[in-house]
Amino acid sequence: MSQTGPDTSSIESILKEGRVFEPPADFSERVGGSYISSMDEYRKLYERSIKDPEAFWAEVAAQFDWFKPWETVLEWDLPDARWFIGGKTNICHNCVDRQVNNGYGDEAAIIWEGEPMEGGKPEIRRYTYRELQREISRFANVLKAQGVKKGDVVTIYMGMVPELAIAMLACARIGAPHSIIFGGFSSQAIADRVIDADSKTIVTCDGAWRRGKIVPLKDNVDEACNQLERSGNAIKNVIVVKRCKNDIQWTDGRDHWWHELEKNVDDECPCEEMDSEDMLFLLYTSGSTGKPKGIMHTTAGYMIYTAVTARYVFNLVPNQDQVYWCTADIGWVTGHSYIIYGVLPNRVPTLMYEGAPNAPDESRFWSIVERHKVTQFYTAPTAIRAFMKWGREHADKHDLSSLRVLGTVGEPINPEAWMWYHKVIGQEKCPIVDTWWQTETGGHLITPLPGATPTTPGSCTLPFFGIDAAIVNEKGEEVPHGTGGLLAIRKPWPSILRGVYGDRQRFIDTYFSRIEGMYFPGDGAKRDDRGYFWIMGRVDDVINVSGHRLGTMEVESALVSHESVVEAAVVGMPHEIKGTGIAAFVTLEAHAEPSEELMAKLREHVAREIGAIAKPDLIRFTDALPKTRSGKIMRRLLRDIASGTDTNQDVTTLEDLTVMAKLRESDES
Ligand code: WTA
Repeated sequence: MSQTGPDTSSIESILKEGRVFEPPADFSERVGGSYISSMDEYRKLYERSIKDPEAFWAEVAAQFDWFKPWETVLEWDLPDARWFIGGKTNICHNCVDRQVNNGYGDEAAIIWEGEPMEGGKPEIRRYTYRELQREISRFANVLKAQGVKKGDVVTIYMGMVPELAIAMLACARIGAPHSIIFGGFSSQAIADRVIDADSKTIVTCDGAWRRGKIVPLKDNVDEACNQLERSGNAIKNVIVVKRCKNDIQWTDGRDHWWHELEKNVDDECPCEEMDSEDMLFLLYTSGSTGKPKGIMHTTAGYMIYTAVTARYVFNLVPNQDQVYWCTADIGWVTGHSYIIYGVLPNRVPTLMYEGAPNAPDESRFWSIVERHKVTQFYTAPTAIRAFMKWGREHADKHDLSSLRVLGTVGEPINPEAWMWYHKVIGQEKCPIVDTWWQTETGGHLITPLPGATPTTPGSCTLPFFGIDAAIVNEKGEEVPHGTGGLLAIRKPWPSILRGVYGDRQRFIDTYFSRIEGMYFPGDGAKRDDRGYFWIMGRVDDVINVSGHRLGTMEVESALVSHESVVEAAVVGMPHEIKGTGIAAFVTLEAHAEPSEELMAKLREHVAREIGAIAKPDLIRFTDALPKTRSGKIMRRLLRDIASGTDTNQDVTTLEDLTVMAKLRESDES
């Protein structure tokens, strides 16, 4: 782990500027009632939540359906938190059945829009809670018929089709934890995750639509299955949704069509009574060392935390014709928590869009907002920067007046992008909630509340209820406002990760060792004189590419696994759209010649090993990597070189970075 402190220079100027945007005066009226309407209200409730978290969370939990009430709200034995001990519930029940039981079965739960357009019109599917209940129950029965039992991990590798939502909720219904793998990952990534989770069932699609092209999901699954078979980890069942009708290979006995299996099942399937601490899902995410780790979330704490944050942060109100849209893919935690699990319990329809923001053209998102009268819109800074680049005319063509709340997530947002979002998309009427959180936290931890918190571009503002966040030094002491340090959370919250699957030590080392007695998320941050939080990015070897986390070491091992590569060092570099791009410094085997062709091959190789998101934006060949006397790669030097590089120059020639390293040695070691 790098011991250098966070780089605070980039935010100094923002901090000095400090534009403040109050919530619009008519916000409450526009959303049909704001849950929290002033900073006074926020502070009072926040104080109560910190003073007596157990009472606070018990009150929240009581708003959900339980098969059996809990006995103890919290047991905290660092690093283990257990919430609502003894309680029995089911998140699928609280998302779907509960709405049906309460008489809302005919209201829209999911609105789905496909990517392809025919005659200028997309395919749209709407599911009411009742229809969703039926579809989920049917697929739950399919899973059971395939031998899936409570506790079995089901791997899901699909495009953004309604069946993805149905499959995950069906898993939750029968207590089979899901492990969803983003459709952009490679067959190697699937195989690694399947082995780690010891999963025997994969749910996939023939293909997925992406910018008019078909991503061959089933082919990738086949390749993974072959590899798994060879390593003695054979997959028993592959269930395939027919979506793109592309040609696929078929293995009899192992492969089944979703629609065929559904012919023989019942419409009803009771919800399994899950223990509060039974595992709900595994989601793999990158860390600074080794392979991605399986982040474990359990049932009750995750359920109440995601639902209550979604309610307050997006101000979701039933019966107000709200339509909520989060543009993330369900393969990431943002999709898990804020397309499905956190939204459905709030009885506001959640919109799912299948494809790319520029299919068929750059105005697609705004045509969706207009068509469905979207009220809450949640996206990533990297997307906003792409919209800016494409030009405001694409947004201006559409009626965006339905919008009420805008959100961002995934990385720090630069003030230019924030202002563009505010003016062009929000038309200066919509609060922007910049939500800071992680796969490990399950839900938002630091975020504005749209009707209460004055916002400043670039700051995620203040902690959510029950979140005891602080900026500390390595000793765990709080540092004065204005000073950079490590972000730490001092008390557990209901959706804190419960572990790294199969790796207790990594769980302890990563999150609970650097700062004694506290949860350490891996980010550096700073507070301003109002106490607002400013996230300064990762302090470990994790880079945030387009808001997606990648471990530099993962990319390095992918490069080194290529026959021409001896050694590789990967660092982040500034990138106009992605925020951070990937720069790779590579030393070659004697037989290999640096060339454009080899560069292209290496990029493809990384895409095959991990996925296209991990393709280096820049590759530089070097005779040797710059190292300190003790043999540590001088990443700071490489970062400097990468950020100062003109990517258009001839970069194929070998260069001797060790000379520069020698010059820098004194201040690095
Ligand atoms: C970064 C995504 C600044 C941060 C939900 C965190 C952010 C990592 C923000 C988690 C934000 C996320 N402002 N940085 N609003 N949101 N991050 O697990 O570095 O994919 O640790 O979860 O993204 O990424 P993950």
